[in-house]
Amino acid sequence: MNLPGESQQIGRILRYQELADRLAELIRKGTYPPGQRIPSVRQMSQQQGVSISTVLQAYLQLESLQLIEARPQSGYYVRRPSGQPLPEPEMSSHVADPRLVSLQELIMQIMRDSSDPSLVQLGAALPNPHLLPLEKINRCLVNAARSAGEAGHRYIWPPGLEELRVQIARRSANMGCSLSPNEILITSGGTEAIDLCLHAVCHAGDIVAIESPMYFGTMQLLEVHGLRALEIPTHPKEGISLEALAFAIAHNPVRAVLTISNFNNPLGSTIPDEKKQALVELLAREDIPLIENDVSGELYFGDRRPQVCKAFDQKGLVMLVSSFSKDISPGLRVGWVAPGRFQPQVEWIKFTVSSSAPALAQMALAEFLQSGGYDYHLRRMRREYARNMELLSEAVMRYFPGGVRLTRPAGGLVLWVQLPERVDSLELYRAALAAGITLAPGHVFSAAQRFPNFVRLNASEFNYRTERAVEKLGELVKGMDKLNGSNPLDEGWSVGRRREE
Ligand SMILES: Cc1ncc(COP(=O)(O)O)c(C=O)c1O
Repeated sequence: MNLPGESQQIGRILRYQELADRLAELIRKGTYPPGQRIPSVRQMSQQQGVSISTVLQAYLQLESLQLIEARPQSGYYVRRPSGQPLPEPEMSSHVADPRLVSLQELIMQIMRDSSDPSLVQLGAALPNPHLLPLEKINRCLVNAARSAGEAGHRYIWPPGLEELRVQIARRSANMGCSLSPNEILITSGGTEAIDLCLHAVCHAGDIVAIESPMYFGTMQLLEVHGLRALEIPTHPKEGISLEALAFAIAHNPVRAVLTISNFNNPLGSTIPDEKKQALVELLAREDIPLIENDVSGELYFGDRRPQVCKAFDQKGLVMLVSSFSKDISPGLRVGWVAPGRFQPQVEWIKFTVSSSAPALAQMALAEFLQSGGYDYHLRRMRREYARNMELLSEAVMRYFPGGVRLTRPAGGLVLWVQLPERVDSLELYRAALAAGITLAPGHVFSAAQRFPNFVRLNASEFNYRTERAVEKLGELVKGMDKLNGSNPLDEGWSVGRRREE
């Protein structure tokens, strides 16, 4: 039971909190852009039908979150993000020795966390569900089920549904290459496509050169295949170092190379188009296949889609992989690969291992792409992702301590943050989880655990809850930085290990 006056008090707290939340959302949506004056306390109190003190408290909270600032005799204004952008992370400088990968449990935990609605989702690189064309794709699924009848329940043998391959082939011109539908094989997502490529060109124990850091799903595939990852330094803007790769190839029997050439996950890097050509030529001289993962290629923030390495492929050595998981629906499980000269092996393995990608999903996607709504949808998604990326970057700048570095991706949906060296991202991951936030610690992006003080944050969604989560992360990082720097007992802490209880 409430004490006398207590329910009134609670009601007032709820009202100012509600008002602060609503205003914060409007600021974030750009309804009140940086530098804009917001309504005076009196105006707001009249507009909202709440007391002056409720408005004052709401404004105080927004001030403490550094979203607005009071200017003497002038009123309240939306704050401009302070100062210069943070520096970008450094490029790691050495080629690590090839090693077997073992990251299973942590990765599975992060993926399981991704379906927990009580957590703030900064962990898995999932698309923002509010920006997916779900209504439209659902209609296409219903149409497919109605019109295909029994055919919707048959296998569609490799290479997959022709209408869908035609649509993908048409779009390939935007990527700088002109694929024919016959060069494309439909898969169950991009993951299966990469798996098939590795299967076709590698055997257990082989060395695969990869960008470092590398998306952990790919690290898992290497683990499953018993392959050794040779981690090549990768620039946060321009991708894999060709000098380091050439050196690595000269000194190791590299069986294949794996890159995420556009909007790399986690680095956000994009290999410039001329450098893509040089990469393809380097590998062509050595006859080494390149598995090129382009799952986020459509999510560019600029005015032009970057090309793919496949555009420069003269010898059929580039195996181009993509999927519709980042921009239409991860759950449909439809991806594709253009495997170049390895097409017969890849098709045969697909046929043997999983026979067919889901029939109705292929049909629905073909209809969606034919209907012409895809480009319209992508334009909106790119705009929103660019803004969310900016908002997340600004929040990290606002709340994280000095010394932090941050990538500036030109597309995609992830941000890579370099923390002070004393902060172990696995410790941070655990502390954040206890506070209801999930993130991806740097450990899982390298077989050699080369990124203990990095985290990857999912930038696809940004709202008030995200901002509070980033604020909390900032506090945790500051605390760990201080604690680990000042306490001699902390010498017992090590990368990826909890302090003994
Ligand atoms: C770089 C990268 N490749 C592949 C995938 C997986 O794609 P799919 O869901 O189509 O298997 C992801 C998903 O997060 C990714 O980020």
